[in-house]
Amino acid sequence: MDDKGYEISPWQLKWRGLDLEALHATESTFALSNGHIGIRGTFEEGEPRGLPGTYLNGFYEQRPLPYAEAGYGYPEDGQTVVNVTDGSIIRLLVEDEPMDMRYGSAPAHERVLDFRSGTLRRTTEWTSPTGRRVRIHSERLVSFTSRAVAAIHYEVEPLDGDIELVLQSDLLANEQIPTRTDDPRVAAALDRPLVPDFAAAHDYRAVLAHHTRASGLRMAAGMDHEIEYPANGRCSIETEEDLARLTVAVDVPQGERLKVTKYLAYGWSARRSTPALRGQVEGALAGALETGWETLLKRQREYLDIFWATADVEIDGDAELQQAVRFALFHVLQAGARGESRAIPAKGLTGPGYDGHAFWDTETFVLPLLTYTVPDSARDALRWRHSTLDKAKNRAVQLGQAGAVFPWRSINGEECSGYWPAGTAAFHVGADVAAATSRYLAATGDEEFEAECGVELLVETARLWTSLGHHNAQGEFRIDGVTGPDEYTAVADNNVFTNLMAQKNLHDAAAACERRPGLARELGVDDEESALWRDAAEHMRIPFDDALGVHQQSDAFTHHAEWDFEGTPPEHYPLLLNYPYFDLYRKQVVKQADLVLAMYLRGDAFTDEQKIANFAYYEALTVRDSSLSACVQSVMAAEVGQLQLAYDYLAEAALTDLHDLHSNVENGLHIASLAGTWMACVAGFGGMRDHDGDISFAPRIPPQLVNLSFRMTVRGSQIHVDIRAKTATYRLLSGEPVELAHHGNPFTLDTFPVTRPIPDPPNTTPVRQPYGRAPVRRG
Ligand code: BGC
Repeated sequence: MDDKGYEISPWQLKWRGLDLEALHATESTFALSNGHIGIRGTFEEGEPRGLPGTYLNGFYEQRPLPYAEAGYGYPEDGQTVVNVTDGSIIRLLVEDEPMDMRYGSAPAHERVLDFRSGTLRRTTEWTSPTGRRVRIHSERLVSFTSRAVAAIHYEVEPLDGDIELVLQSDLLANEQIPTRTDDPRVAAALDRPLVPDFAAAHDYRAVLAHHTRASGLRMAAGMDHEIEYPANGRCSIETEEDLARLTVAVDVPQGERLKVTKYLAYGWSARRSTPALRGQVEGALAGALETGWETLLKRQREYLDIFWATADVEIDGDAELQQAVRFALFHVLQAGARGESRAIPAKGLTGPGYDGHAFWDTETFVLPLLTYTVPDSARDALRWRHSTLDKAKNRAVQLGQAGAVFPWRSINGEECSGYWPAGTAAFHVGADVAAATSRYLAATGDEEFEAECGVELLVETARLWTSLGHHNAQGEFRIDGVTGPDEYTAVADNNVFTNLMAQKNLHDAAAACERRPGLARELGVDDEESALWRDAAEHMRIPFDDALGVHQQSDAFTHHAEWDFEGTPPEHYPLLLNYPYFDLYRKQVVKQADLVLAMYLRGDAFTDEQKIANFAYYEALTVRDSSLSACVQSVMAAEVGQLQLAYDYLAEAALTDLHDLHSNVENGLHIASLAGTWMACVAGFGGMRDHDGDISFAPRIPPQLVNLSFRMTVRGSQIHVDIRAKTATYRLLSGEPVELAHHGNPFTLDTFPVTRPIPDPPNTTPVRQPYGRAPVRRG
């Protein structure tokens, strides 16, 4: 079959044709998850495969963090997400021959990730090497409504004559997967990470329980089945320590089908016993069987109907982008929907990349989307941060600081970054958590969360800044020796992004304490402390180069030598893999939007002229060696009137995984870039800003698009923003009237739609990117 690849379709990601080379990539793009369980899009028959993976949010193994030279405060242990018991396997023997797409032929093969049904469907016609033909239909889901449950419906149909089939449905623990590390100490910790505790089976049901050696986490996985087959079938079930297998042997006459529905349940805990976990998964299985496949499907669709009614982004004029944007929304929902007080990792639960760690990506890129579409999920993610506050306070003590120091990367809240210049020194993560907290509070008015977690998060993050920074003799407040988002400049003084985010953190903490004096007292905040915060915020140093008329990303940045972009061949990107850090650090070269991100998130701290000049200056230095950059550059390109460029960057962010732009989609999806796709649509072309909780828009779309519209929830009211070339129309879909602004003019959105003209974009100066680093312009 020649025609291989993704097909463009508004509500689906469809892959047509068999391409075994693409399996690594499609296992990630076809991954299903509900934020608690994640299952990569492997074939049911187990092989061929790229990198199989089933993950449970928060379930990790501890491993040594190797250092050539140790230093004070270096984390000793790392954490790595574990590939847990695989329940997706359904092997098939067709008249004695194992169904394996590497052999025989597949005259028809198609897989569809359906954004509305929330399922992955597959239809394969397979001809065995000896010429027996079968058709396989499968559909699987990881339930949004029953958090512990996944299910697969699997059907086999003979295509010519009666056929003998043997189906083996497995639960497989300690699956052999390719080693992902060269370090033998780390490999040893991750080889067969699950220690067996318990295995049992009866009827069509089996449960396996395991624990991890070092992190001491326990888990149980269970499967149960409904089977429909013509007469004369035999069925048996058996278990070993790492395997449970249900075997069905049956003769299927032409015109009939073997149908199996496999229900899966997972549970894990750091505290609960193996019998308790066994009980939990058996209970979940009983519930799933009682619910039944059809009802699970129906509930999945209903859940997604509500999601799309509140979160859809519609694009008229670019079918590929429309598909990519919905793909992005769907995967961000999958990453965050039912995390429930666990982290949202940088790859979601779609692959083992970054060891399954969560970064600032969550608060800065993912939570804006969730806050305005699925606010409860945003709250739960912030609750996870709050639940790790003790660890963050201990880390602050260890580092000789006050307040809380959140980890740069982690699964359980402890710092796991072994490279401190771009880990520990990236203190901005605290301000990012604070900004996400303030945003969530303003967007929802959730007083319960404010009282239980919000104020404390703001206070402990603010405390760090007054201990980390100092006033100099001129009274300026400086935060020296930190790393901002651009990891090609490290341990620098007064990173503008960090300082502006810290400034907001300090203001917001003081304001929260004023709103909640009782709570402030409980947290030990007195008037003197909040006065210190306000004073630091007011005198925050923001470096500016008067000669060039632009901000300095950090002190002296604009005085450094420029990177030799012309002399850097394309294959030397990403630079961090080809040049020493010391050289990157002392030159003007920017890994990812840093000052440009500050201009978006703290746009209230810059004039329009500064934004235009800064954008042009940093655009010429930014190489986008991180997928977190294009979306931010899209937002600011739109604001400064570079609509074509904004469009190119939006496409880059949206297609990062579908086009595998960073050549690593096999390790999992880039969730921040996917969430950034929403950001580029809503904050970029929609011009949405939420400074101080006031929602404003400055919409403007590029000529390629006929129309862009999106939905948002603000304080319980749902709004719809519809942007065309000359006008924008705002509608209140439900809830109380809301105060909004359009290109600087406030209005109240009530029952009647409001249509406003779109002013011409500002005059722009042309900008350029580093040699060879311009975004791709699609046909
Ligand atoms: C980026 C970080 C990001 C991390 C995880 C790195 O390449 O520089 O900003 O948090 O990837 O996505």
